[in-house]
Amino acid sequence: MAAILRKYVVVGGGVGGGYAAREFVKLGLQPGELTIFSGEQAAPYERPALSKAYMFPDSPARLPGFHVCVGSGGEKQLPEWYAEKGIELKLDTKIVKADVENKTVTTDKGDVYQYGTLLVATGSTFLNLEDFKTPGADAKGIFYLRDVRDADKLVEAIKSRKGDEALVVGGGYIGLELAACLTVNNIKVTMVFPDPCFMPRLFTPELASFYEGYYEGKGVNIIKGTSVTAFEKDADGYVTKAILKDGRSLDSSLVVVGIGAKPLLTPFKGLLEEDKGGFKVDSTFKTSVPDVYAIGDVATFPMKMYGESRRVEHVDHARKSAMQAVQAIKAAEKGEVVDDYDYLPFFYSRSFDLSWQFYGDNVGETVIWGREGAGAPGSKFGAYWVKDNKVMGAFLEGGSPDENKLIAKVAREQPTVDTKEDLVSAGLGFASKI
Ligand code: FDA
Ligand code: NAD
Repeated sequence: MAAILRKYVVVGGGVGGGYAAREFVKLGLQPGELTIFSGEQAAPYERPALSKAYMFPDSPARLPGFHVCVGSGGEKQLPEWYAEKGIELKLDTKIVKADVENKTVTTDKGDVYQYGTLLVATGSTFLNLEDFKTPGADAKGIFYLRDVRDADKLVEAIKSRKGDEALVVGGGYIGLELAACLTVNNIKVTMVFPDPCFMPRLFTPELASFYEGYYEGKGVNIIKGTSVTAFEKDADGYVTKAILKDGRSLDSSLVVVGIGAKPLLTPFKGLLEEDKGGFKVDSTFKTSVPDVYAIGDVATFPMKMYGESRRVEHVDHARKSAMQAVQAIKAAEKGEVVDDYDYLPFFYSRSFDLSWQFYGDNVGETVIWGREGAGAPGSKFGAYWVKDNKVMGAFLEGGSPDENKLIAKVAREQPTVDTKEDLVSAGLGFASKI
């Protein structure tokens, strides 16, 4: 069968794929030049909605409401948008084979596409307790969350179990956001995780204590420092109980697991050079193979600000890396080059009435300000990370858009500080003077 020729092929129709399409259109795309393959049935959407408004009991977010690029204030790219722009959007179609010598990819339907330039935007998938051979982890009633299909299954389970109890395994982003969603759906939640506090990837125990106290105030039972070693199930295969490492057992007919993600490297694994678990790219997201780029969760890129390579599993980077790669591709066609990607890390989360943002690097000593009044109406609470007298990272709970811009500026400029006490007493005032 003859290969179908395309100037550009994007493998992955998630956040990165959707933002790449927008950038191609913005910079000039002829009909028939671009094909996007997606393993999902929905056109690219803003994935963060799934663990937030998608789970709300009242007026939940639903597609087509949150297709890219609404998350960054852009145009909502409905499936018709791709058709109007002459982009072939092949949904529910997985790339199962790649040949980077002959520049082809093969779909699960057997079609072969030959590309001029390829963008790998395959994202991540969740770590599964079955991968860790946890007995009973295959029981019905155990849920994970990565895409709309997973979200719909969880929504159904929530509806059919209203008023019941749920167990949330994991104390990271998914664990915190879904524990809150289940609680607002009137489900009594117990969280279990092996760490000493919420979100140890970013929070210190002191910072986490505010969020832990808030969740407990909402009725969430938090069990730290242990993990689930097995599940029991009934005769129909539904989960009934979780057995913990510390010997306790918890009755539960609904379990939500968020124990981390792993980048989806297949079917490019072995074809592209890897670094730190992702595909090694340069500052334009070019991989080790000519005409192949990798963006979003799968890319390990040079973090210019910190002089080292990193992989980032967050939406802001997925959007910006897509734009950078497409700009670099289009510039190269004209014999031009783009500036290096100079990314300022940006992470955020929302749950209950809480909303925090973090910019920069969480290295060095953490200086928390406003902790005593945290949560009181009108009060502010935040943190700075200080290394070698330089402020490297900044965190703010409940900031307005303007206040969040201030902490972003601090993280970008890395101002020097004389004493930790100066930061504690100035709080957000320190950021406003930068
Ligand atoms: P993304 O996962 O978005 O897309 C990858 C796409 O590729 C998928 O559609 C997949 O089906 C497809 N695919 C994979 N292999 C394929 C193949 N072989 N052939 C064809 N298609 C293939 N971040 C943040 O900063 N703030 C937040 O609030 C949240 N919230 C959040 C909630 C939930 C539930 C999740 C799962 C994740 C977040 N994130 C987040 C993380 C953020 O969504 C994530 O970093 C980006 O979606 C990554 O974008 P990518 O394009 O790299 O992958
Ligand atoms: P995560 O890495 O944020 O958290 C995983 C948590 O599970 C950690 O606290 C870890 O210690 C814990 N854990 C590990 N093994 C465990 C076990 N056996 N039992 C119990 N706990 C265990 O990952 P996540 O929360 O699963 O999120 C998945 C992906 O989705 C990540 O890429 C994340 O960045 C992304 N995400 C981001 C956001 C956001 O940025 N607001 C929101 C949701 C999801």
